[in-house]
Amino acid sequence: MRLILLGPPGAGKGTQAQLLMKRYGIPQLSTGDMLRASVKAGTPLGVEVKSIMESGALVPDDLIVRLISDRLGDSDCLNGFILDGFPRTEAQATSLDQMLSDRGISLDCVVSITVDQRALVDRIVGRFTCKSCGIGYHDTLNRPRVDGVCDACGGKEFFRREDDKAETVVARLTAYIQQTAPIIPYYKEKGRFAEVNGMGEIDVVQELIVNDLEGRSK
Ligand code: AP5
Ligand code: MG
Repeated sequence: MRLILLGPPGAGKGTQAQLLMKRYGIPQLSTGDMLRASVKAGTPLGVEVKSIMESGALVPDDLIVRLISDRLGDSDCLNGFILDGFPRTEAQATSLDQMLSDRGISLDCVVSITVDQRALVDRIVGRFTCKSCGIGYHDTLNRPRVDGVCDACGGKEFFRREDDKAETVVARLTAYIQQTAPIIPYYKEKGRFAEVNGMGEIDVVQELIVNDLEGRSK
């Protein structure tokens, strides 16, 4: 299965991608996670994008397209993948079409997760992530079962993202509205597009997505 998860910052793309990854055994390709790994490792790409990410703006298309194009060639993507946070501009959407047609493959579905703007800010400022396995949590909405211990891997160290400050969230939402939301009509026209209400609990949203992917309606 090859799919795109679209949605504003904090919509739950990463949370849902991790559940889908387990369910279908296909990798989550999160451009945000890849960029954060480059920043952490201090690679030339990481040095170039660090301040852009901290400002909440989008990283230049050519850098992102190269990142995804390289990753799509990996063997774990042969049976499918979940694109999380890519494409985010019209130029990225066009480049993705080219990458897919070069490989003779196509998308099965584009899922757009919608969430009220106020909830987005709450979700983002309360988010924290397990340092060892990358699973996301929230101070009030999605706590680990045992305080300070990751449900998935037992890790005890967590981090908060540099761009998860209330003042940066506004810039990220603006980037979404101005640069990413305009690609939604493009995918709607292509078909196999689903809009999913992301305001429910995590498992409920997952069920809505899976029902859609598997062609059932509720
Ligand atoms: P990226 O890492 O992609 O961030 P984002 O799009 O801003 O989205 P988030 O990761 O903040 O939100 P999410 O939808 O994954 O929500 P999550 O599941 O964590 O990008 C970061 C930066 O990298 C960009 O600003 C840009 O600079 C750069 N970048 C990345 N890709 C790029 C591209 N293609 N082009 C250019 N630049 C790019 O959930 C959020 C919180 O809510 C969590 O705490 C979670 O536990 C909680 N939660 C989730 N679902 C629910 C629910 N249903 N109910 C209650 N709580 C929930
Ligand atoms: Mg994410």
